[in-house]
Amino acid sequence: MSERVVLAYSGGLDTSVGIGWLKDATGKEVVAMAIDVGQGGEDMEQIRQRALDCGAVESVVIDAKDEFASDYLMPALKANALYQKRYPLVSALSRPIIAKYLAQTAKELGANSIAHGCTGKGNDQVRFEAAVAALAPDLTSIAPIRDLALTRDKAIAYAEEHNLPIAQSKKNPYSVDQNVWGRAVETGFLEDPWNAPIEDIYTYTQDPSVPREATEVTISFTEGIPTAIDGKAVTPLQAVMQLNELAGAQGVGRIDIVEDRLVGIKSREVYESPAGITLINAHEELENLTIERDLARYKRRVEAEWAELVYDGLWFSGLKRSLDVFINDTQRYVTGDIRIKLHAGQAVVTGRKSEKSLYDFDLATYDTGDTFDQSQAKGFIEIWSLPSKISARRDLA
Ligand code: ARG
Repeated sequence: MSERVVLAYSGGLDTSVGIGWLKDATGKEVVAMAIDVGQGGEDMEQIRQRALDCGAVESVVIDAKDEFASDYLMPALKANALYQKRYPLVSALSRPIIAKYLAQTAKELGANSIAHGCTGKGNDQVRFEAAVAALAPDLTSIAPIRDLALTRDKAIAYAEEHNLPIAQSKKNPYSVDQNVWGRAVETGFLEDPWNAPIEDIYTYTQDPSVPREATEVTISFTEGIPTAIDGKAVTPLQAVMQLNELAGAQGVGRIDIVEDRLVGIKSREVYESPAGITLINAHEELENLTIERDLARYKRRVEAEWAELVYDGLWFSGLKRSLDVFINDTQRYVTGDIRIKLHAGQAVVTGRKSEKSLYDFDLATYDTGDTFDQSQAKGFIEIWSLPSKISARRDLA
């Protein structure tokens, strides 16, 4: 039997041509593997068949939407994960689950390498290969575009020459990656960071500047996970899908950012993540209600670290695993309801309640019933500012 390679297959031009290209260049048989993480578009069965028509020896499709939501998006939500404080890691979160299935499929179908359609300039090549290295250290990785000189022009010529069944759709001027957590749009006229995004590039969100009635929604969380929307029980995937609809209709979750890639390039990226931004806003506020001050402040630092690790392709690292243990432990009281108003591109919390709340009305109130003994504050400040006082006497002398 000849050697085999498992290719992360999208059904698009590059990976369809990649099947024959890989075989010609390496002599390996190509197994195609397509993962459904909610990217939408074509039917997965059609994609499976196309891989076979393009010469794959085997073709597998896997519906991983529920697993993606439960095991990848929910940890990101518990971590309020935003890279550079704004990017909810849309693409970065899908790579580890795809890599997991690449490694698993390679093992099951006897392949000794994996392949992906990334270029040599982005983060995704690093994420796929670093994740596969952590899961199956003996597998090698091949990237036809990066390693085997497969350019777009050559791909088009190859597809025509070999009569590959690839719909001659008009070329999308953007590079788009999407899943249930959101969409990433880059290239085209967006490469000039001074150019404003046009309405055309968005599909998950409506124009936030169009006047419309606000939507109010109540999200119930159990230990950091959304478990009901407006009182109706939901799975993590249902929560994400329903909020994509509700928040997307209000234009919530558009992000336009110059991003620092792992490979050193600054790139202009446009994202839309209606459910992601809504859930993170809601979840973070529930933490404000239920987590004590020092733990909450420490967690915010861990969150930034977590987002950077995941952005940098280290999902399956020891540090990430240990941070998850910490983050999970912080969620034990993050249970309660958040009312959030979706309007004009914003998701704004307007109410919060929890059985585990640390908010003590009698301590907080300025009205009668105040139980806070203000006379204690004077002594506290005296001691709190003692180091400042002592050093000031020296410094100002
Ligand atoms: N820059 C983003 C990231 O590294 C998105 C990459 C998306 N890929 C794409 N082909 N558009 O996570």
